[in-house]
Parts: sequence; structure tokens; C-alpha cells
Amino acid sequence: MSEKPWGGRFSQKTDQSVEHFTSSIDIDRRLYPYDIQGSLAHCKMLAKTGIISQSEAAELVEGLGKVKRELDHNQFVFDDSLEDIHMHIEARLLQLAGKVAQKLHTARSRNDQVALDVRLFLRDAAGRIIIQLVELRKMIVEMAKKHLEIMMPGYTHLQKAQPVLFSHHLMAYYEMFTRDWERFNSCFERINIMPLGAAALAGTTYPVDRHYTAKLLDFPKIAANSMDAVADRDFIVEFLACASICMIHFSRLSEELIIWSSAEFNFIELSDAFSTGSSIMPQKKNPDIPELVRGKAGRVFGDLVSMLTMLKGLPLAYNRDMQEDKQPLFNTVDILSDCLNIYLQMLPEIKINKEQMNAAVSIGFLNATDLADYLVIKGLPFREAHACVGKAVGYALTNNKELHQLSIKELKQFSRLINDDVFDHLTVENMINRRTSQGGTATKTVLEAIKKAMIELKGHDLKAIQIR
Ligand code: ARG
Repeated sequence: MSEKPWGGRFSQKTDQSVEHFTSSIDIDRRLYPYDIQGSLAHCKMLAKTGIISQSEAAELVEGLGKVKRELDHNQFVFDDSLEDIHMHIEARLLQLAGKVAQKLHTARSRNDQVALDVRLFLRDAAGRIIIQLVELRKMIVEMAKKHLEIMMPGYTHLQKAQPVLFSHHLMAYYEMFTRDWERFNSCFERINIMPLGAAALAGTTYPVDRHYTAKLLDFPKIAANSMDAVADRDFIVEFLACASICMIHFSRLSEELIIWSSAEFNFIELSDAFSTGSSIMPQKKNPDIPELVRGKAGRVFGDLVSMLTMLKGLPLAYNRDMQEDKQPLFNTVDILSDCLNIYLQMLPEIKINKEQMNAAVSIGFLNATDLADYLVIKGLPFREAHACVGKAVGYALTNNKELHQLSIKELKQFSRLINDDVFDHLTVENMINRRTSQGGTATKTVLEAIKKAMIELKGHDLKAIQIR
């Protein structure tokens, strides 16, 4: 068993069950590239400020390179007694580089080290998610542009309400994912802060140059308060909250894809490559991908709640509870990037049943509001018009007809203001294209939204490059 770096004041060796219980190596080994990146920068800063010599720094850099190679090639031996990735790397560095390794931890504590590693990890992960979100938004806009002529029922309470363009429905998701993109970008700024130099909690007596370390690691800012630097995990909470909201959007879209691909709706068909079958019912083609995305949303919300609960009421500064931050964070990063990935592959493969969607608009009284509006144009107050049309709907229902299938004579029973021009007023195209209010479903308005989105996305591509 290895000697503990903190073993000096202890007379008994740590119980094995404690080593097992406190070890986080199975989870935090994933941080190794960031731990080494951080150590390299720290070591260069120590040399620049004269805290260690240039030749010592060179030995450390070489040794860290060797450790990294072992980790990269799965030749590294892990051991519970070394607790976490930070101690594993330091212990191996001691074996490979000799005594000089004991100088690496000068002016540093595992508390600021782990805060740095998690920030470096999350900066990468959030950057990738931001880029994937731009891709997803592009794909949605492309679909909206391609299917501009498809009409479909718009729903409230999952009851047919008014006709909309399928593209308008898609562009609603564009807006949601755009807000997600904005949230992740804003969160990114609060992740991108350099904590090193805070040491255990109070700062350090060595003449460190924190701005130099920040520069080496490409951080625009250093943490302003050493206690906050080691105690703060709200950047993780914020990321998990952004991810949770994004998963709400994914699960709503998934739910719609599931409903739309049912025999009852038959609005879309998922490709065979992105569906699965049943082991007992040969006819089945199941929408497992959207179902799993919908299901995984729950796990992401769980990660947010466990992070909030873990942090709540912790005294300043570092507490070991905080070691529990990594599992929910890694879990959410993986789920969200997987969902984004699979959607990017699945969406372009979806077949849209245009005829079925268009046909669904002419059944179910989606023109009732427009008939009321027609009467308003002819001079009736809206409430009165509403009551008139209500009666007409009742009549049509008992006669098994739609409003537009009633004869002009039948319609006139409900208001003498109704004339032949009513049928033109009630065509689906006209109903849609009259809704020209800003953000409405008229073809012209939706086209404007699409154009605006395309310009927006060009700008976001540039931003994505900056983040990389
Ligand atoms: N494994 C620990 C964590 O993830 C590293 C920091 C340990 N600090 C300490 N004072 N025990 O939080």
C-alpha cells in the first residue's frame, strides 16, 4: 500500500473500508487530461516566478508527459488507496521523475486543483454542446425551409385547434433550442474562470502569478476570492439547469415524434435505421429513440436535484461532499451529447406524410375561429359571432358534416350575414396566410422567420469557432 501524502500526523494506517469508501478514482479518472494540463501550467508558473528552478520545471514537464502517455495508452495502474486522480498522477510522477515530483504541489492544494480540473473539463464539454446545438438549429431551419408547403393541425389540449404550417411548428423548436444555446453560452462565461492560486482556501504565501497561469490555460478571468474559488460549484448547477431545460425541449419534441408516428396520426415515419422492432409482435416498428430521449430527461433532472441538494447548507469553503459533484455532471454531459448526436442523425431521415398532414386539417372544425372572424368582418361583435358559430358546429356535428361542407342555405340559418364568399374565406391556405401578425403562421411570416434564423446561425458559427 502506498504512503499517504497526508500521512504525517497519523499513527494508524487508513482502514481498507475507508479507502474504498472515500475513493473517487473510478469516476474522476476521466479528468486526467485536464489534471495534467493544469499541472503543466502550474509548473511553468512556478518556474517563471522563481518558486522552483527552470531545470526542475523541465524535469516535471517531462515526467508529466510520461504519466500522460501511460494514461493515454491504458498502461496506468489504478489503486483505491490513492483516492483520486490527482493523487494517482502525483504518485506516479514520483516514481517516474523522482524527488522533484514533490515540488509540483507547491502553492497548490487539491481543493483548487480539483476546481480547476472540473472547469477545464466542463469548458470543453459545454463548448462541444454549444456547437452541437448550432448544428441542430441549422437542421431544424433546413427542414422548415424544405417543407414550407405542408399544412397541419395546430393543437391545444391535444385537440385540433387551428391550421398551421408544419414549418411554423418546427420553427417553434428552433426558438426553444436557440434559447438553450444562449443559456449555455452565458453559462460558459461563468465556467471559464481560473481558480488556481486559491490553494486550500486562503490563498498562498508564495509569489504566484495567477494571471500567468490563466494565460497559459486560456482563461480570460481569475477567481476573485480564494474561498469562493474552492467552494463554488454553482457553475455546475447552472450547467445542469441549462441541460435540464434543454432536455425538456427534447422530451417535448420526442413526445410529438412518438405521437405523430402512431397509426392514429401517421404524420411522419421514422426511418428503419432509427427504429426498433418487437420480439413478439412482428408488425411493430417502435420509436425507441425519441422514447429514450424522453426517458433520459428524468435522469438529467435528477442530476440537477442531487447537485442542488449536495451543495445546500454547506459551510465555506471546501467540504468532501463536493467530491460527489462529478457523477451527476459527467452523467448529464454524456446524456445531453448523446441525445444531440442521435437527433442530428435521426431528424434528416424522417419521412413526412404530407398528404396525411394536409388531410388532417380539413376534419375537426379547425375553421370555426375563422368563421367567427368572418362574421366579425361582416359587422358582428366577436362574442355574438362565437355563439353563432358554436350553434353551427353543433348542427354540423349532428349531421355528420364539417362547417365547409354545409350548404349556404344551411349556414344562413345561423347568420344572414353569411354569403357565398365564406367558402373562399375558409380554405386552409387562406386561413393560414391571413395570420400575418408578427410570429404568426402565414407562409410569408414563417419565411421571414426562417431567413432571420439563417442570418443568426451564420453569426453563431463564428462564435462557435471562438469557443474552440
Ligand atoms: N477528490 C476530491 C474531490 O473531488 C479532491 C479534493 C480533495 N480535497 C480534500 N481536502 N480532501 O473533491
